[in-house]
Amino acid sequence: MAPSTITTALTHPLARWTRGAAQVTAMDREASFSSDLPKDADFVPVFSARTFQYGDVVLVRERRDKTRVRLIGPLTPEGAVGNSRGQMNHSALVGKSPRDKVDFPNGQPGYILHEPSLEEYTLLAGRHCTPVYPKDASAIVSLLGIHPGDRVLDAGTGNGALALHLALYARPEEGSVGPCIHTVERREDHHRLAKKFVAGYRRGLLSPHIAFHQGMLSEILPTLPVPFDAAVLDLPDAHLQLQYLAPMVKPDGHVLCYVPHMSQVMECVHAGQESGMGMDRVVEVGWREWEVGRTRVRTQGEGDSGAGVWMCRPEHRPAGHTGFLVLLHNRRHAPKGSGDEEERMKR
Ligand SMILES: C[S@@+](CC[C@H](N)C(=O)[O-])C[C@H]1O[C@@H](n2cnc3c(N)ncnc32)[C@H](O)[C@@H]1O
Repeated sequence: MAPSTITTALTHPLARWTRGAAQVTAMDREASFSSDLPKDADFVPVFSARTFQYGDVVLVRERRDKTRVRLIGPLTPEGAVGNSRGQMNHSALVGKSPRDKVDFPNGQPGYILHEPSLEEYTLLAGRHCTPVYPKDASAIVSLLGIHPGDRVLDAGTGNGALALHLALYARPEEGSVGPCIHTVERREDHHRLAKKFVAGYRRGLLSPHIAFHQGMLSEILPTLPVPFDAAVLDLPDAHLQLQYLAPMVKPDGHVLCYVPHMSQVMECVHAGQESGMGMDRVVEVGWREWEVGRTRVRTQGEGDSGAGVWMCRPEHRPAGHTGFLVLLHNRRHAPKGSGDEEERMKR
């Protein structure tokens, strides 16, 4: 194995390495072994994965049909989970680790447990409006070029799915405090549910980075700290909001409108131009899953040959259209000598 591979494995934050009874942290190991490969057979990596607790959301995969996955939780002392084979209390999951198996009290095979990724969490959770799908959310983060320390507007909040993706990247820089994402939602019920949804992801890991505001975007905007480094509009009338938003975005800062119809794309480009915003790009994100696995070949008249062959092909189900990503930039120049202008020149 190449030394670089070992070093990567050793730097995983959950890694603990053990040789006999002695345990040392990954960083200790990296210091003493980065140029020195482990040779003995009993040198085994042990990962101190965390265990599930009440309040956690768990991804469960059915042991009988591993394609069936769902989210359970947040785990509560009164909660239960089950299917046609049986039922178990949430308490049966508490204290277990990712990849542990739990069976029903009647002996029937139950579930394999996992910690959901952000993609799984946003795709599998219940929703009250159409979220920004992970394929689009990751492209949005990339197109906007979001960094730690950036201040980003997200309107409307909806489920909070995009806010979570934005918060992964626009977290405060080291030493600074306070939220970086300002998310605005006109409906009280959506606002409330989104807060809960964000808090349910990895025990509220990203909640401190998100400020939730309830009201119409045009009314909330003047109350927010500005300027924004970037903004996303996922609203039915995104084009009507650009006039309010344009003065709040840094010179050369980006605004991205997420809209399902081409007629809305044209409206956003036109309204952007009228508000001093130029169009950079219009993008539709493609995402094609493949089926890769072994299967049996059946030959006519001869039955099942029994031979396993690799099947590698795009999935039957096509990924349908979700939305267009319309990337605009603020054409405004900052006044000479201002901090904004210096920042613009650095980019
Ligand atoms: C499609 S959903 C947003 C989904 C969200 N981006 C997500 O990833 O979960 C649109 C949301 O915008 C809200 N909304 C519509 N017009 C608004 C406005 N003018 N100001 C604030 N929120 C608005 C709606 O109530 C709805 O919850």
